[in-house]
Amino acid sequence: MEKERKVIGVMDPNYYAFLVTLERLIAHACPSTVYNGKEYEIATKRMKCHPYDVLNAWTETSVIMNRGAHWNRHRGSFFEILCPKTHLIYNMFSFKAIDKNAGYGMMNNIGLKVPPTWAIPQKDYSKMFEGSKSNLQKDLIFEDHEFFDLEKIGEAVGYPAFLKPQDGGGWIGVTKVNNFEELQKAYDESEDKPMNLQKAVDYREFCRSVGVGPQIMPMHYNASAKYSHDRYLRNEHQAVDFNFLSPEESVEIRQLTKIINAFYGWDHNSCESLITDDGDIFIIDYINAYPDSSLTSLHFYFPGLVKAMAKWLIYCAVVGRRNGYNFMDNWPKFYAVREKGLKEGWDYNKFLDEYEKIADEYWHTDEFEKFCSKSLADFDEKALEFFASEEFDSILQEDVKRFFRIESERPAKYAHYRGIMDFWVHCEKERLGK
Ligand SMILES: Nc1ncnc2c1ncn2[C@@H]1O[C@H](COP(=O)(O)OP(=O)(O)O)[C@@H](O)[C@H]1O
Ligand SMILES: [Mg+2]
Repeated sequence: MEKERKVIGVMDPNYYAFLVTLERLIAHACPSTVYNGKEYEIATKRMKCHPYDVLNAWTETSVIMNRGAHWNRHRGSFFEILCPKTHLIYNMFSFKAIDKNAGYGMMNNIGLKVPPTWAIPQKDYSKMFEGSKSNLQKDLIFEDHEFFDLEKIGEAVGYPAFLKPQDGGGWIGVTKVNNFEELQKAYDESEDKPMNLQKAVDYREFCRSVGVGPQIMPMHYNASAKYSHDRYLRNEHQAVDFNFLSPEESVEIRQLTKIINAFYGWDHNSCESLITDDGDIFIIDYINAYPDSSLTSLHFYFPGLVKAMAKWLIYCAVVGRRNGYNFMDNWPKFYAVREKGLKEGWDYNKFLDEYEKIADEYWHTDEFEKFCSKSLADFDEKALEFFASEEFDSILQEDVKRFFRIESERPAKYAHYRGIMDFWVHCEKERLGK
């Protein structure tokens, strides 16, 4: 049988282990596959930074995991030109177009639960006047500034609340305020960042859920851990808790993540949800063009994420999935469902069920699942072999070396992650009946 070659482009400027594990896993678990009676050879290719012919930008790849492309103009335009000649995991247009506040407002419009949030203009414009660009930047300041009453905004949102930068990222500049005095102080110190004031959710459980196409992986998240790389640990003594969500919560979190990602056409995105004692699930941070995929953060969840990405990339390459021409294509469908549901008085779960249908249609969930069971039938077993191998262990060792800069700390860190990975292998063996 003649083989057709499918090339998967991969890049990631920051996450060594994610990139290398993905490449090696695909090479190990799926060098070729059969789909609809035809054989495909699967290869990966690193998308390196290079000069390109702007008018004729081209790629041999069928799909690209273009991680971080949004933050580099030279590379970003390259991927924009390629769309939709190839499928991009991180949609170059929608991630640029949709910021955190658009996300809050729009998801609230379709009835998802977002805490009360007010946007507040930046406090300090003085940095805009610095340097040679000052005149240009001065033009960007709207002279017609309205005076506003911060105290009233504080009351409208309610305390406690979080004052956080509108464009967010990495918890930088996030302050919890309990009253107006604290709000005023935090706002005065916020410098040149437009801020949001968001009502604090008094939560019982914090869940960070990652979607890769229709595959959703909810993870517990310990926001109070001292180091960000320890936040996915259940607590100081326990790496993972399989039952941290009730079955109902698990369904709802999966639906929310799948719905948001389908709404915007995001093949890989994370969604932070806060679950209250009453069982309400609020979404607070779900616009992440570069979701954390680090081995040192994700530990037990890491193999699952790499596997999900590998399967989705192979599927997209083989079936020829393409980003739509218009990332807003799904919006009228969601809004029509919203309107219908309001007229008919649906409850919240009925809305989620109906939105989920749109999402499953968008992700071709059934087709993908069939593809996994037929064309990737032995993938899980091969992946288990890989994650138990010395090859993966050397990636783990290298990642620990790169992440932990103090040499004397490394042996203990390695032992910590090795232990968790051994546990993953043990659980996976059990799951597969090995
Ligand atoms: N409304 C909220 N209720 C409770 N905690 C919040 C809220 N907003 C933010 N936080 C806390 O602050 C952290 C950072 O805020 P987030 O919106 O996730 O911004 P970032 O983009 O910096 O991650 C969250 O992980 C959470 O611990
Ligand atoms: Mg966050």
